[in-house]
Amino acid sequence: MSIRLGVCYYPEHWPEAMWESDAQRMQALGIKQVRIGEFAWSRIEPSPGDLRWEWLDRAIEVLARHGLDVVMCTPTATPPKWLIDRYDDVLAVDANGRKRAFGSRRHYDFSSDSYFEESQRIVRLLGQRYGNHPAITAWQLDNEYGCHQTVVSYSASAQRRFRAWLRARYGTIDALNTAWGTVFWSMEYRSFDEIDAPIGTVTEAHPSHRLDYRRFASDEVVRYNRMQVEILRAHAPGRVMVHNFMQMFVEFDHYPVAADLDVASWDSYPLGALEEMWFSPDTKARWLRTGHPDFASFNHDLYRGMSAQPFWVMEQQPGPVNWAHWNPHPLPGMVRLWSWEAFAHGAGCVSYFRWRQVPFAQEQMHAGLNRPDNRLDVGGVEAERVAQEIVTVEQAAGALAQPRGKVALLFDYAAKWLFEIHHQGADFHYPRFAFEYYSALRSLGLDVDIVPVDAPLDGYAMIVVPPLPIVPDDLPGRLQRSGAQVVFGPRSGSKTESLQIPTTLPPGPLQAILPMRVWRVESLRPNVTEAVQLDGQHGRAAHWRDLIEGEGIDILAAFGDGHPAIVRHQRVHYLASIFDADFTAGVFAQIARAAGLAPQHLPEGLRLQRRGGLVFALNYADAPLTLPDADGADFIVGGPELAPQGVAIYRARGA
Ligand code: GLA
Repeated sequence: MSIRLGVCYYPEHWPEAMWESDAQRMQALGIKQVRIGEFAWSRIEPSPGDLRWEWLDRAIEVLARHGLDVVMCTPTATPPKWLIDRYDDVLAVDANGRKRAFGSRRHYDFSSDSYFEESQRIVRLLGQRYGNHPAITAWQLDNEYGCHQTVVSYSASAQRRFRAWLRARYGTIDALNTAWGTVFWSMEYRSFDEIDAPIGTVTEAHPSHRLDYRRFASDEVVRYNRMQVEILRAHAPGRVMVHNFMQMFVEFDHYPVAADLDVASWDSYPLGALEEMWFSPDTKARWLRTGHPDFASFNHDLYRGMSAQPFWVMEQQPGPVNWAHWNPHPLPGMVRLWSWEAFAHGAGCVSYFRWRQVPFAQEQMHAGLNRPDNRLDVGGVEAERVAQEIVTVEQAAGALAQPRGKVALLFDYAAKWLFEIHHQGADFHYPRFAFEYYSALRSLGLDVDIVPVDAPLDGYAMIVVPPLPIVPDDLPGRLQRSGAQVVFGPRSGSKTESLQIPTTLPPGPLQAILPMRVWRVESLRPNVTEAVQLDGQHGRAAHWRDLIEGEGIDILAAFGDGHPAIVRHQRVHYLASIFDADFTAGVFAQIARAAGLAPQHLPEGLRLQRRGGLVFALNYADAPLTLPDADGADFIVGGPELAPQGVAIYRARGA
């Protein structure tokens, strides 16, 4: 499949007289697909039943006339005011019992019966009108499910549906009482109808109750998305079904939602993410105008792992955003680097948010490919260069196959919910720790597949499992059959499915491949660490320690106080804490070599990725870098000396 560029476009924001020149300039720049309509409900239906299709018909025709494929969106992320006023159950309810208000977006409750029906209606109307339009090649369903913390609602609708969900899961109320251990604090229920949403309690609500509520809320997203897919599969046969997920957004399980789609796409804002995520102030300053070298690629590899067809970046940051605490502008070359990084990791399309910066409303300070005065902005110039380079790369290498790493990292959305609900240590942050394991692997020049815990594991040489509290019963067997070197983070196997301590103690089911017990745990405040060393490499352990006992394990490293820090049984390793980045990379390098891989400590800021027989080299650093192992390489873009924020694409010697 070829790689292509796209753009997000809002014809409803601009005079119709601009549409023709917009489309002509998009085509000239090298844009191949254009997304429209995700926030257009009030223009499609300004009053109930008053359908205004003509403007949208004309916008599609203008784009089609210039050979642009159209990604049509369903507009359900922004129900119009008349719809909110017509029904009393559309707005979601937050954890304080307050209704969310109209006046921004995503103001709906996934559990609302009225909204479910209204969504069915508008999606069906769109499908009936445009399902067979030759220019509309894909449908984006809704926009960024859950954005602005809108996955979980505590409304009466949600509570009613939660009770039904519990009944289906447990069958009898006795089974629920046993699974949750409600005998504790006299919390036993006589019927499912007695169970409310887990909010408003005097002190913390029951952890199993809270975890099941998160599972229920996640399932509501799957149900809502599936409804839209089913309608459009019927009305838009052969079109791509896609949703635009978000960067490191873990509030619902993305795997079952993606399973109903053809393409998992995501919205990449590296600078905004750096500012808004867990990174230290020093890290945020270090990568201020580039983004962290591993953050975008983590998401590329995550969404590649759940996309039936090559994933897309549906929204690529083109310049400063508006929504982070601080919004710097990218260094020159970064829009180009981010674009090639996405393609390197398997993207089929990189689509920029948005064609032109709009001068009004909440996002008037957010850049586009064009400035509000309609002059091409920095990001547009770089996108144009990428479009030209795509031609060169495809002439040299043809259509690029999907990447396939020799290292797998297992990612589990429910792990985040569990550690958030029942943390024991205030900063036990699953997404951060999963990212840090990924980053350590990438710093070693290793290509990584990110896969769900139930994924097939054959063919991997090394399998890395960030802290996985609930372990599927069949995982030990699959790991053993893979023949891979395996490494687990701390707290793996520490809880049962209903959030209880395994009767055999942690790591629970993993004891089949790790004959050990975690007999005690401790969590460490941020300014406390423990020394650890492995074969002369010294490091620091932080956040958490598992204290381990066991007869059939090798102790590879110990903490300063003598407790085991890294243990191994045959090919399975267990890390009893979260170690500093360098020490983690050292441990992973040792295990990678045991797996027959060739890890190499890359210079800071250099990242390599292989795809389709090519090597993509990206320089996030602010100094020039000489590419390792590039002598004799056949360069298609760039060369062995990589400028700051530079990109090189080449066929390695002998490839
Ligand atoms: C998200 C949304 C877009 C826009 C951008 C701004 O990705 O999907 O509508 O709000 O953020 O960066």
